[in-house]
Amino acid sequence: MFHHVEPFAGDPILSLNEDFQKDPRPNKINLSIGIYFDDTGRIPVLDSVRRAEAQHVAKGGPKPYLPIEGAANFRSAVQQLLFGADHEAVTSGRVATIQSVGSSGGLKVGADFINRWLPGSEVWVSDPTWDNHRSMFEGAGLKVHTYPYYDAASGGLRFAEMLSTLRTLPPQSVVLLHACCHNPTGVDLTRAQWDELIPVLRERRLLPYLDLAYQGFGDGIEADAYAARALASAGLSFFIANSFSKSMSVYGERCGALSVACPDAKQAVNVLGQLKFTVRRNYSSPPIHGGQVAATVLTDPALRAVWEAELGSMRERILAMRKKLHAVMQAKVPGRNFDYFLTQRGMFSYTGLSAEQVDVLREQHAVYLVRSGRMCLAGLNVNNVEATAVAMAQVLAQGLPRR
Ligand code: LMR
Repeated sequence: MFHHVEPFAGDPILSLNEDFQKDPRPNKINLSIGIYFDDTGRIPVLDSVRRAEAQHVAKGGPKPYLPIEGAANFRSAVQQLLFGADHEAVTSGRVATIQSVGSSGGLKVGADFINRWLPGSEVWVSDPTWDNHRSMFEGAGLKVHTYPYYDAASGGLRFAEMLSTLRTLPPQSVVLLHACCHNPTGVDLTRAQWDELIPVLRERRLLPYLDLAYQGFGDGIEADAYAARALASAGLSFFIANSFSKSMSVYGERCGALSVACPDAKQAVNVLGQLKFTVRRNYSSPPIHGGQVAATVLTDPALRAVWEAELGSMRERILAMRKKLHAVMQAKVPGRNFDYFLTQRGMFSYTGLSAEQVDVLREQHAVYLVRSGRMCLAGLNVNNVEATAVAMAQVLAQGLPRR
């Protein structure tokens, strides 16, 4: 029956993380997967989350099926977080939101919706993008292309080329954009660049699809929502998948949402209906626990304040690691410019190391990066940052080909 089934080649991020777990070397350093580790190398349980969970456990109560679209209190809290409570898009009811199985689940439901209701639309993703984007959209039956994004020479953005490519796309093309903390490069659009991009999206009648998995890790919760709010204020229709995996450190709860900003409330009703239909024939309805914990953290004023402070500390710690790594690398490899560690935002930086150099780092130094050269700086801490810099400097000195 299954003799023709091919072996799974493995996932460039998740399989690497599994390899890391199996590595017996005591000094190993995990800078591969996009997970925030604290200064002791552990995944933190946030106090805000612990307290919200305690409230739910104390309440007890049954665990019914959630509605197909998820819990109403969670969906409303998500809309307020993304757009602000008073935003016209929210108050007019023209945003359709479903609770999803992580933001990946949201991305996939949105992709299925596009395949069904916008036949012929193709998808453009940044070059490079998160390793799973292409796979996910192709899995939904959509054709995927790339637009220019990362400039290897400067460690910055090819904004002019990005815009001129987008200007050539047919109407209703889907443009996947990272709302903040670009994964894998850490290179974000400035506010001025978003403001320049939005008229192009509108004139060409393109369909933006925002991925907001790292809200709060760039410049802050509100600041990182700039793109979502600017698109909504400009009256564009767009998709946005967001996640609480990182911002609440609840990875395995698979807690996220998909929102679709529509032209009016009437269209939002039908869009929500079709998103529900997509969910029902995939996994029926979302899980209850993570969403209720997140909703409590977002809406209880005391817990919300604790969460914002905790998220702020995670962001500050990563920034401190960026500065430390930059300083040590600059001292060890004086001829090279490592300023990109300071200018790039969020958990990731593109190091410019080749796949071969990444292999040497892993094999000889037990330092794990994704083979694209992506480093997760949220895996650095006071005890391993120096060793990481020394290992990187050694690999660079060996003179293997850079990309
Ligand atoms: C990452 O990019 O490492 C994370 O978002 C985890 C994942 O699912 O790939």
